[in-house]
Amino acid sequence: MKILITGATSGIGRQLALDYHASGHSVIAVGRSAPALKALANQGLHTLELDLLDREATLRDLTGLDRVDLAILCAGSCEYIDMPDFDSARVSRIMRLNVETMAHSIEALLPALRRSDSPHLVGVGSSAAYLPLPRAEAYGASKAAVAYLMDTLAITLAPEKIRVSLVCPGFVKTPLTDRNDFDMPFLMDVQAASQAIRNGIEKKQAEIHFPKKLTWGMKAAARLPRSLWAALARRMVTS
Ligand SMILES: NC(=O)c1ccc[n+]([C@@H]2O[C@H](COP(=O)([O-])OP(=O)(O)OC[C@H]3O[C@@H](n4cnc5c(N)ncnc54)[C@H](OP(=O)(O)O)[C@@H]3O)[C@@H](O)[C@H]2O)c1
Repeated sequence: MKILITGATSGIGRQLALDYHASGHSVIAVGRSAPALKALANQGLHTLELDLLDREATLRDLTGLDRVDLAILCAGSCEYIDMPDFDSARVSRIMRLNVETMAHSIEALLPALRRSDSPHLVGVGSSAAYLPLPRAEAYGASKAAVAYLMDTLAITLAPEKIRVSLVCPGFVKTPLTDRNDFDMPFLMDVQAASQAIRNGIEKKQAEIHFPKKLTWGMKAAARLPRSLWAALARRMVTS
């Protein structure tokens, strides 16, 4: 397969790029960090230095690709809101990094996906979007937007036989979560996360979520009355 991965210079995307390359696929690793891209190129991967916030550059560099069979959109970041400071600039920054970069990538990659016999578009969201979580006002909102985007594309791209999947990880140990100052239940290593994502892609699952002990629990909690969940979540913040 010809595979393009964004966010391939670090964390989950980097592990996916290395694992797909090791199993013999042709991988284009996209990111901004030149040293990280050079390290991947030294291991035989194709690389592309690109700031996905730049729509013109993204269209220029990705639209011309001859064919992509699997596109995994993993670029993103996380920042938390710490009340009483509601920093709208932080909300804008995270919405841009997690939602706009994905939209730019999708627009630029659709022509190359359409040239594949079996195209698959995969967007990395988060289980944080399942239910309101303290401090995740910006991050959760951005990942809820990603979920809506991917779930809707799964419907609208189906007539063209472009498969679409949404990935909803729990906590995975990466530079992103290394910044967290709280306990992360069921924290996974990045190799296990890559395995779970690759299994889900192979099985062509519409939603790939893991670790199941966390994500099934969150899905159940999301069905509670909002007032009951809010009381439980408030207790989490104050305890
Ligand atoms: N780790 C977790 O527990 C977890 C849980 C749920 C969801 N996720 C999601 O999984 C994805 C990957 O997370 P991670 O933990 O692997 O994070 P990470 O290690 O911080 O990696 C983030 C990646 O995104 C790239 N990126 C950020 N902004 C970019 C931009 N403007 N243009 C191009 N590339 C950009 C970075 O590239 P450069 O460094 O080269 O700029 C880097 O490769 C994110 O979407 C995150 O929200 C992670």
